Amino acid sequence: MFIVFEGIDASGKSTLIKALSDKLTEKSLQYIVTREPGGTPLAEEIRELLLKNGEDAPTPRCELLLYQASRAQHVEKVIEPALKKDQWVLCDRFTASSLAFQCGGRGVSEADVNMLNNYSTAGRQPDITVLLDISVDESEKRKNSRVTETGVEKDRFEIEKIEFHSNVRNHYLKQAEENPKAWLVISGEKSPKDVLDSFLEGMNL
Ligand code: TMP
Repeated sequence: MFIVFEGIDASGKSTLIKALSDKLTEKSLQYIVTREPGGTPLAEEIRELLLKNGEDAPTPRCELLLYQASRAQHVEKVIEPALKKDQWVLCDRFTASSLAFQCGGRGVSEADVNMLNNYSTAGRQPDITVLLDISVDESEKRKNSRVTETGVEKDRFEIEKIEFHSNVRNHYLKQAEENPKAWLVISGEKSPKDVLDSFLEGMNL
């Protein structure tokens, strides 16, 4: 089972993934937790390049290609081997992020992103993509309190304008609406317990 978790920043993906991991452990099911960009040593290095603030920020085309390079490595080295062993793959972001952020946010064409998503994944698609939907206002509040609590500064995407995040959110909702069988949309503004319950109900688990 290949499950992808998506949403704008601070939508609660990590909390849900942790809660689901605990459930799978309870049931003695084999699983891995992984993420994009990242998931392998090389892909984690690409992640750093993508998220750091500073001079010479990648152009939208360069940014898209770096995400896809990270994805190609991740799919072949981590996701496919785990699926082959019948392990559950819980993946924080995947191809839908490239559509939401690079098309919705940056304005790259969907045809280009679809073609590159298909190339980097060799056609592998999630069994289900879970969208944790929160308002951009709520996301901003959560990001700000995280900075206060942890002292970790916002990354190159987190500092983008409200309009960027609003376009990303709308693109996610559009993807989910266009392909309802492959998406499960849950409000990320509910309590972590209610989010987990909605997920388990939506998945019939
Ligand atoms: P994360 O902090 O949720 O792990 O995600 C890293 C950032 O990268 C997040 O702001 C979304 C962005 N991103 C893209 O723009 N395109 C992609 O294809 C992926 C996987 C992430």
